[in-house]
Amino acid sequence: MSLETKYLGLKLRNPIVASAGPLQQTLAGVKSLADAGVGAIVMYSLMEEQIRAEQARQIAVEQSGADAFAEALSYFPSVPIRAPGADAASSAYLRLLENSAKAVDIPVIGSLNGATMGGWISFAKQMQDAGASALELNVYYVPGDLRIPSEEVENLHLEVLVGVKDAVSIPVAVKLAPYFSSFGEMAAQLDRHGADGLVLFNRFFQPDVDVESLQLEPTVELSTQFSGRLPRTWISALYGRVRASLAGTSGVETSEDVVKYLLAGADVVMTTSSLLKYGPSHATKLISGLEQWMLRKGFGSLDDFRGLLAVPTDVDGAAYERQGYVAALTKARSSYEDFAVSNS
Ligand SMILES: Cc1cc2nc3c(=O)[nH]c(=O)nc-3n(C[C@H](O)[C@H](O)[C@H](O)COP(=O)(O)O)c2cc1C
Repeated sequence: MSLETKYLGLKLRNPIVASAGPLQQTLAGVKSLADAGVGAIVMYSLMEEQIRAEQARQIAVEQSGADAFAEALSYFPSVPIRAPGADAASSAYLRLLENSAKAVDIPVIGSLNGATMGGWISFAKQMQDAGASALELNVYYVPGDLRIPSEEVENLHLEVLVGVKDAVSIPVAVKLAPYFSSFGEMAAQLDRHGADGLVLFNRFFQPDVDVESLQLEPTVELSTQFSGRLPRTWISALYGRVRASLAGTSGVETSEDVVKYLLAGADVVMTTSSLLKYGPSHATKLISGLEQWMLRKGFGSLDDFRGLLAVPTDVDGAAYERQGYVAALTKARSSYEDFAVSNS
């Protein structure tokens, strides 16, 4: 039996991928994920603002003393003032990426969250130089300015993708949020513009409210299995209709969740929450659970069942989705019929 899969043109030993998260902040964490057997690792995201802040701090240190007595040259730090690119290249993130890529024998994917076009391009190149096998563009963009039209949001995604694709030669995936009025068309556009993979879905971290302190609480909660349903719905709608690889990220807790994503048509299945909840070795359980299920079902490879429950390519996708909605509501109405009668 083979669990091998292809993702972004890379051959992976199995479809379980550690999605961007805190475990990847140390080399030990990266190694533990590789030891647990994952097929690939996505690093946590390099945020352009953080690097810029680092640079500003460094320049401030280097220039401190500039107004001091002219002869007191020893006030200057011995490090030379470096170009911003050189600063970034020496950043902890890129060092960790480089060391990780050298330390493990599976693909290590750099994750980037840019704030400017120049930043997207420059850091993408630096990640490639640091040895990333591929890049994941974490386009986390909330159009908080209510005047921004949806087309502008879509174009921003395309511009970032095209800019980075032109600058690097390694494969590039785009991690997306589901909040587009026509998500499928956005995905198809990214596919046409050269995305090697689509990662469904990024999470928007929505603050909670502390009613005692009357403050917003910026919380990062781990997902539940339920959150896998939306990405699976879209993966099943895209399967066979786009050339890009499809990655499911959200709500993977058990090997059954992995199977569901593969049946929908995913090339790889990513998880962060379950690895944080149960530790990196949980990946080993997900892999062996998948293997056992395949044995039980008589499948010898992932291709034997991948996309089995995807939306057939010869049907009208919109009508298919509506049919599902009507069937679900009809079922729900009959399930709650007795309840409605007893409360009337
Ligand atoms: C604590 C935490 C940190 C995360 N950091 C990143 C990040 O740096 N970049 C990114 O693209 N996604 C990040 N994510 C999102 C995950 O990669 C993943 O897409 C999301 O959590 C859904 O998968 P899950 O249900 O397995 O958690 C983070 C998630 C969590 C819970």
